[in-house]
Amino acid sequence: MTERYEPRTTPWSFDDDDFYELESPREQIEFLLRYAVLAPSGHNQQPWSFQITPHGVEVFADTTHRLPVIDPGNREMTMSLGAAIANLRVAAAHFGFESTVLFRESTGEGAVATIAIRETSGSDAKLKGLFNAIKRRHTNRTPFDDETIEPDALATLLDVVEAYPDTFHIVFRQDKQRAADLIAFADQLLMADDAYRSELAACVHPSTGADDGLAADSLGIPAPFGGAASFVLRHFDLGSMQAHRDRDLTMSATALLIVTADDDTISLLQAGEALEYLLLTITQVGLQYSFLNAPIQRADLRDRVQMLASSKRPAQLIVRIGHGQAVTNHSPRRPLAAVVV
Ligand SMILES: Cc1cc2nc3c(=O)[nH]c(=O)nc-3n(C[C@H](O)[C@H](O)[C@H](O)COP(=O)(O)O)c2cc1C
Repeated sequence: MTERYEPRTTPWSFDDDDFYELESPREQIEFLLRYAVLAPSGHNQQPWSFQITPHGVEVFADTTHRLPVIDPGNREMTMSLGAAIANLRVAAAHFGFESTVLFRESTGEGAVATIAIRETSGSDAKLKGLFNAIKRRHTNRTPFDDETIEPDALATLLDVVEAYPDTFHIVFRQDKQRAADLIAFADQLLMADDAYRSELAACVHPSTGADDGLAADSLGIPAPFGGAASFVLRHFDLGSMQAHRDRDLTMSATALLIVTADDDTISLLQAGEALEYLLLTITQVGLQYSFLNAPIQRADLRDRVQMLASSKRPAQLIVRIGHGQAVTNHSPRRPLAAVVV
């Protein structure tokens, strides 16, 4: 009897060593894709599909999962593809492959990236070192404790931040309140918009069942209310509540980081790839993170986030980092067969 597919456990709970039973390159590459799909994605839309080729993988945007109101420029969608590519490369390095990526500017239906994967006797040690974090990474939307980050963990994080100086910008501590005010203000504006709330509501599901979107418990909504979450979001302006909550989440974070990149496809793919290396590193050093992107989702407030970052490039994401209660439930994923064409 075949086991039932459980979107929150099955895709996360396979044995890494099964890779060594596989003989054909195609099966091996397909196995690597099991890690790619564990990447984070905007509103867990998993906007990707993959085609296995004799030399590696072609990566496509699955625009049927785009969010036209929340993400009209497909920026979060494109960064999510970059994050999946990062996971694929980390897994490839772990299993003894080297990978090279050719990113492409958006061409409608065409691949956004071609990844060549070859066996090697010396795969990238930095990438390999992140492997164990892939299945342990969670977006954690609980309050943090604003405690100092231990020096070793901080040094490891700063190494990644400094490796991408055009992409990652740490918000000065004295600007944290300003960031919190901006996030809370943006929450109220967004939640007052029926179209935004309606699209968001369609992404939120009770805690079990759906294989994409946001499980209610991962948003801090207790299980008994999970079934009503989508209805409430759609019909009531919860802007003040959201603003209050996000203000707490911002102020309780030890560090805030702004991701910047130009708005073209290649820059966003690269930013998404760098983001996932950062998130895996955060996981590796025992810290937690989540996103607070509301002011970037408002076109009229995005410049203010760029100013907070003191960057020449537009703001793409706000990440908060700190110590928090670990999340135990994984978010759902679609079966691999649904995304490999
Ligand atoms: C580009 C991008 C944008 C995101 N934006 C938000 C956001 O605005 N708010 C939020 O709470 N989570 C955000 N997330 C996190 C996703 O919701 C999360 O990755 C997804 O639900 C899957 O959960 P997991 O990361 O725990 O696997 C974002 C993730 C990515 C990659």
